Amino acid sequence: MASVKRLAALLPLMLVSACMTAPKGPSSAGGAAFGKTISEQELAAWNIDIRTQDGAGLPPGKGNAVVGKTVYEKQCLACHGVDAKGGPVFGTMVGGIGSFTTNTRVLTPGSMYPYAPILFDYIRRAMPMNNPQSLSNDEVYALSAYLLNLNGLVGATDEMNSKTLAMVQMPNRNGFIIDDRPDTKAVRCMTNCK
Ligand code: HEC
Repeated sequence: MASVKRLAALLPLMLVSACMTAPKGPSSAGGAAFGKTISEQELAAWNIDIRTQDGAGLPPGKGNAVVGKTVYEKQCLACHGVDAKGGPVFGTMVGGIGSFTTNTRVLTPGSMYPYAPILFDYIRRAMPMNNPQSLSNDEVYALSAYLLNLNGLVGATDEMNSKTLAMVQMPNRNGFIIDDRPDTKAVRCMTNCK
């Protein structure tokens, strides 16, 4: 009961802070405005997609789990708990490996994500939830390394960078079912479409 009350007290606070911070976007795109042509440079700040299968689009930078732990304790612990085992607003981000295709699955990055670069993309874009897109690329690599290390997937001093992160073999790489219904094979029209 105590934790439910705590959550109820936290939620309005989180919503307010999310509204104030979420849509601001990268500061280098500050010149973009409705009715004004956007420059390639302004666009680049928003164009942060990563192709998660092979890590294409991962930026320069590096970090390991030892560094990641210190960043985690400042920026993430309040919500995700000690050693990412669960906090007041979110459950564990560790363990559950092998449970994904069972009826008692525990969803964590370790048990669910088919590719490690998803971690980088998600953290860079969305975390910390009260101040998204505030971390440096080195910090995001270090946090990715830390969460992978807690899940037993990389060593404490293994360096994660644009090459090594994509090489981490995630245990659930083959756990998703490919959607092979006929309409998923439709070819997208990109030019001279009717
Ligand atoms: C203010 C609270 C808060 C803080 C601080 C925070 N998170 Fe989160 N985080 C959340 C919530 C809530 C979710 C679930 C979001 C959802 O499911 O839409 C989440 C989800 C995640 C996920 C996805 C987990 C999954 O199972 O796919 C990762 C990874 C993550 N956070 C990492 C971090 C890291 C790293 C930090 C520190 C830089 C951080 N978070 C800081 C609240 C927070």
